[in-house]
Amino acid sequence: MVTVTYLGHSAVQLDYGPSTILIDPFLRGNPKARITPDALTPQYIIVTHGHSDHLGDAIEIALRCGSQVIATYELAVWLGSKGVNVHPMGVGGSHKFPFGHLKFTIAHHSAGLGEMGDTYAGVAAGVVFEFGGKVFYHAGDTALTYDMKLIPEWRKVDLAFLPIGDNFTMGVDDAVTALTFVRPRLVVPIHYNTFDMIAADAGAFARKANATGHTTAHVLEPMGTLTI
Ligand code: NI
Ligand code: MN
Repeated sequence: MVTVTYLGHSAVQLDYGPSTILIDPFLRGNPKARITPDALTPQYIIVTHGHSDHLGDAIEIALRCGSQVIATYELAVWLGSKGVNVHPMGVGGSHKFPFGHLKFTIAHHSAGLGEMGDTYAGVAAGVVFEFGGKVFYHAGDTALTYDMKLIPEWRKVDLAFLPIGDNFTMGVDDAVTALTFVRPRLVVPIHYNTFDMIAADAGAFARKANATGHTTAHVLEPMGTLTI
């Protein structure tokens, strides 16, 4: 059984036995976060793209724990220059890690580091990976894209994390359409209500997601868990 813990915004932690994967660990400065980076000890950290609300505290956690950070090439090179143990990948490429296969998928979004966002951070991505015998899809930040139809051709997704906050990413209705493309068994909405600009009705999303007939939505409060 894999335990999924929602940490707020797009940050999630997955635990399977002694193995922990952390994704987009934005905790300091995240008004919804209920945990600080020093409480986390992941073996792996996946960062979907170089924006501060996704990179978050990845460097601090990785340096303290010796976690390997999996990111797209340019972001990985930049993290490597900070002393982080990195595994660089390109969108569309897959790799077999000790925990299972992992593939970065297309996301229509941007990336850029630094105060002005002018340090090139490569492209934004989503990620599909196996862990604990289950398959997870974390969409990162993205528009609705037809490319999502390719995901179930590679793996049947058990649990998808989809952004619903609109403005910077898909909103509720586009995320529901994404469900018909990806066809996950379960979905957890992310990237909403952290700031006013991405306010969204997660209950409405859950009702529409459940109405597809093929996906069950779980709305998690920060620190809320789900076992699959
Ligand atoms: Ni972003
Ligand atoms: Mn974001």
